[in-house]
Amino acid sequence: MKILILGGGGREHALAWAIKQNPKCEEILCAPGNAGIAKIAKCHSLEIENPDAVLDFVQIHKVDFVIVGPEAPLVAGVAQSLREAGITTFGPDKAAAKLEASKNFTKEVCAQANAPTAAHKYFSDLNSAKAYIRNQGAPIVIKADGLAAGKGVVVAMDLETAFGAVETMLGGEYRATGTGVVIEEFMEGEEASLFVLCDGMTAVSIGTAQDHKRAFDGDTGPNTGGMGAYSPAPVLDNNTLEKTMSEIVEPTLQVLVNRGTPYQGVLYVGLMIKNGQPRLVEYNVRFGDPECQVLMMRLGGQAFDLIEATAKGELEGLHVNWAGDHALTVVMAAQGYPGSYEKGSIITGLEKVVKDSKNMCFHAGTTRIGNDITATGGRVLNFTARGESLSEARQNAYNMVKQVEWPEGFYRTDIGWRALSEALK
Ligand code: AMP
Ligand code: GLY
Repeated sequence: MKILILGGGGREHALAWAIKQNPKCEEILCAPGNAGIAKIAKCHSLEIENPDAVLDFVQIHKVDFVIVGPEAPLVAGVAQSLREAGITTFGPDKAAAKLEASKNFTKEVCAQANAPTAAHKYFSDLNSAKAYIRNQGAPIVIKADGLAAGKGVVVAMDLETAFGAVETMLGGEYRATGTGVVIEEFMEGEEASLFVLCDGMTAVSIGTAQDHKRAFDGDTGPNTGGMGAYSPAPVLDNNTLEKTMSEIVEPTLQVLVNRGTPYQGVLYVGLMIKNGQPRLVEYNVRFGDPECQVLMMRLGGQAFDLIEATAKGELEGLHVNWAGDHALTVVMAAQGYPGSYEKGSIITGLEKVVKDSKNMCFHAGTTRIGNDITATGGRVLNFTARGESLSEARQNAYNMVKQVEWPEGFYRTDIGWRALSEALK
């Protein structure tokens, strides 16, 4: 099969790496890709958020199967238009992708599904929003209603921060991304994510993970897209997982079916867990980045069988073969990220990094210039390893990090700390 992957981050490199191991895969194309992906796939420049451009590309290159990595093309209707043209495609239609594109839509679906989530209210008027915040008190959470590239959520620990957030979102720079804000109850607990493949009605869990959102060690510094992850997440034990499926995921999928917009693709279920009770923080309509890297490391080539079954509506009765192992990824980012950072610095030592079925350096923001691998993104490399235990996976991942010389980069030294310290208790 000739497979096209849309996207160019660590998530898409991990997908390409796993899919390449499946015998059904003859060739992978990727757009736009990156320097790491280019080693296993042909990379093309393409307007991936333009449904017509993607459909033209797919027809010209006689692609058999399309996997959409990031949310923006899904929200723009790329998967939908490919499917309507008869191309087998992994990823939800535009209407179902609203689960990520609109916080308010997700809240409506949760209410219909009776799925546990934070109590909330929607506002488009600044004064009413402020009055509500004053009444509720802090801590309180403010979310812009629209895709905001991870910048649309403010967890306000005091009223001043909360007022500042609604002023910006309802009066200022995010105004164009949505029509209002969702203001919600602050939930306490431990965060973890569940990844579920859905082919409309059947849902199959393909793993759990925990991300590290803050830039620096000890969960300090600004919020990022994620500085490292591991799988499985111990807090999502079997009991909590079953509750998540029966109380949150399955009722949500049923509501979407009832609305005439069934969900096909991977559903990223962001949870807050307290005393074994999961509550929904958010849905995303794609794999997490860097969570995908640890999931692909654990699934290997079977990932494509699962993705194919999802796109073809054949998930029922399918099982995931788990090796009972652990995976961990460490993100190396450009100094300054998530703020402004330099582009174009050279990374050396990558050839020394061991690459096998248990160790892999996935590229995120890299470009090859001549013989050099240069850093061209905020998050640049993802050192991902598997082990019998989480501590072995962690050791292997940090061993890879040490091989690379890139003074312009930084990484967290404590990925996995929460699960490892729990394990020591
Ligand atoms: P979201 O984009 O909705 O996932 O929010 C980004 C991050 O903000 C989450 O990963 C949580 O760490 C935090 N967050 C969002 N909603 C809440 C909430 N209601 N209570 C506590 N933390 C939250
Ligand atoms: N790592 C968080 C996300 O992909 O949204």
